[in-house]
Amino acid sequence: MTTTNLALGQELLDVAATLARQAGTMALVGRRGGLIEVQTKTTATDMVTEFDRASELLVFDGLLRCRPDDTIVGEEGASHSGTSGITWYIDPIDGTTNYLYSLPNWAVSIGATDDHGAIAGAVYIPAMDEMFTAVRDGGARLNGSPIRCSTATDLSQALVCTGFSYSSTQRSLQAQRVARMIHLIRDIRRFGAAAIDLCYVACGRLDAYFEENLASWDIVAGELIAREAGCRTGNFDGRDVTPAQLVASAPAIFDDLTALITASSTRVGQE
Ligand code: IPD
Ligand code: CA
Ligand code: CA
Repeated sequence: MTTTNLALGQELLDVAATLARQAGTMALVGRRGGLIEVQTKTTATDMVTEFDRASELLVFDGLLRCRPDDTIVGEEGASHSGTSGITWYIDPIDGTTNYLYSLPNWAVSIGATDDHGAIAGAVYIPAMDEMFTAVRDGGARLNGSPIRCSTATDLSQALVCTGFSYSSTQRSLQAQRVARMIHLIRDIRRFGAAAIDLCYVACGRLDAYFEENLASWDIVAGELIAREAGCRTGNFDGRDVTPAQLVASAPAIFDDLTALITASSTRVGQE
């Protein structure tokens, strides 16, 4: 039985997609306009630009205007407490490092949740003009056309994507894990934007993606899009996804992948 009011889901999606397109276009035009103000956040490699803030402000103002009773949480600090039971998560630029280097893999990610989890999500990649969308129980789309995940069944032939944290200690452990699994899969990719990685699994450009230490704004929209495209998602134990641990893959390779991630996660000296 569906827990989703599809009309509400579609209404939320329309808001998310409109704002993601507006904010993404503004940030793309801004980046092409030249040098931008850059600061660091949690570590020396965790950057924030004036367009991360401008994009978040545009989305925040837009949500406040059309959905004043909803709660809003933004990566760069935008915050509003509402009473409707709907909460929005904004990643105003997912893939800021790519944005800074004028690489195309960055997106505006906007997801909405209700009491049952994510209900609508939009991930817009301005440099490709690609809009990934989903409504819970309503399927996933790329630029309006339905998408499905890959039909991979053999982990040894799977193209697997991951990401690395901004903390150097965590990065070393994550790199060790990758070193232990890379010879057992087709290859590894690291594109640098969690929301896009999830969308790429959703449309079969990747067979799987896993990462840890993310935040809700990184995954609410993308995880819904992946699930609605037929992916299985979960944490490294196969239980419910959390930002702390996320795996999204073609369903048939999920168990083998989580087992491999777990087996590859012991620290050197503990094996
Ligand atoms: C980051 C990207 C990256 C992932 C990091 C995220 P940001 O988000 O999604 O791919 O590996 O963990 O924090 O900082 O570019 O919004
Ligand atoms: Ca992010
Ligand atoms: Ca961001």
